[in-house]
Amino acid sequence: MLVLGFESSCDETGVALVDAGGVGVPRLLAHALFSQIDMHQAYGGVVPELASRDHIRRVLPLTQTVLSEADRTLAQVDVIAYTRGPGLAGALLVGAGVACSLAAALGKPALGVHHLEGHLLSPFLSSDPPEFPFVALLVSGGHTQLMRVERVGSYELLGESIDDAAGEAFDKSAKLMGLPYPGGPHLARLAEQGDSAAFKLPRPLLHSGNLDFSFAGLKTAVLTQAKKLGDALEARKADLAASTQAAIVEVLVKKSLSAMTQTGLRRLVVAGGVGANAMLRSQLNAACEQRGIRVHYPELHLCTDNGAMIALAAGMRLQAGLEAPERGYMFDVKPRWSLAELRPEAEAACAITNG
Ligand code: KG4
Ligand code: ZN
Repeated sequence: MLVLGFESSCDETGVALVDAGGVGVPRLLAHALFSQIDMHQAYGGVVPELASRDHIRRVLPLTQTVLSEADRTLAQVDVIAYTRGPGLAGALLVGAGVACSLAAALGKPALGVHHLEGHLLSPFLSSDPPEFPFVALLVSGGHTQLMRVERVGSYELLGESIDDAAGEAFDKSAKLMGLPYPGGPHLARLAEQGDSAAFKLPRPLLHSGNLDFSFAGLKTAVLTQAKKLGDALEARKADLAASTQAAIVEVLVKKSLSAMTQTGLRRLVVAGGVGANAMLRSQLNAACEQRGIRVHYPELHLCTDNGAMIALAAGMRLQAGLEAPERGYMFDVKPRWSLAELRPEAEAACAITNG
């Protein structure tokens, strides 16, 4: 069973083709990605209208690339999957509209996928895939969540950020330091040359006794520190970046370990853009190795948004029998959508079959 997947929730257009036949993990046949980062960089952040327009420009050429790389034709595709949410409404509508139009034209079912489910399952495409059950640390630009994952489609929220996400803390702090958008990777690179103990920054909710996060106060502390430094900021930027990264990483590591203790599970899956952070990976690896916990990550190039994770999630849901495509030609998108709301019986998503 061939599943074509579209990702267009934010500033990356992703298209991928997976083979979800049989019982094994769907196999990635090809994927293609176009990042809009250069376009948005001039504005210091994502401009939603420009994002939507660019998705329109990229999605079909990328689809052609993927099909030709996989040596398959559109007529061979069995299901068309797309990101239904969460994300930017206009950007989501591009992927949903193209997917559902193609599905209708081809007489094939279309399937709306939760973006975070895509991130969460993306380590299954790595050379060291996890096994269920596991705890997932989802750290993307808009979400910081700890979930207990029993099987595909069974996601229990253990804790989440009550304000900014970890990715936002990286991005906003980086912006305060004058680094280009998206700040996370730039801040991480600068931090390599800095002293992480140079500035004492808060570790919000570190001892809260629950698995919630809060990063808004950290950003304010970075701002206060930057103002205090004034002209000296330039010379101390690497130290401030290193101190900021250390604060974020310490909270993420400690809370993840608490989630492992609380659930008694022995596997941790890290997914989402911040999962690409080298310091987070090395500290989690060290802490988990000490405790006999296995940690799984997506391949580095599949940490940030991509179409492969969307095709994969659709394929895994279909294999698990969680999707029963309905007849109809309607679709919608869900710009705000909690992963914990994903209940097998409640979600038929945007399912289209012919006839
Ligand atoms: O998952 P993602 O691609 O998009 C969302 O679904 O939000 O995550 C993007 C986030 C951004 O905040 C970006 O700055 C952050 O991931 N990020 C990083 C790194 N690479 C990406 N943050 C810290 N270190 C990195 N190496
Ligand atoms: Zn994402």
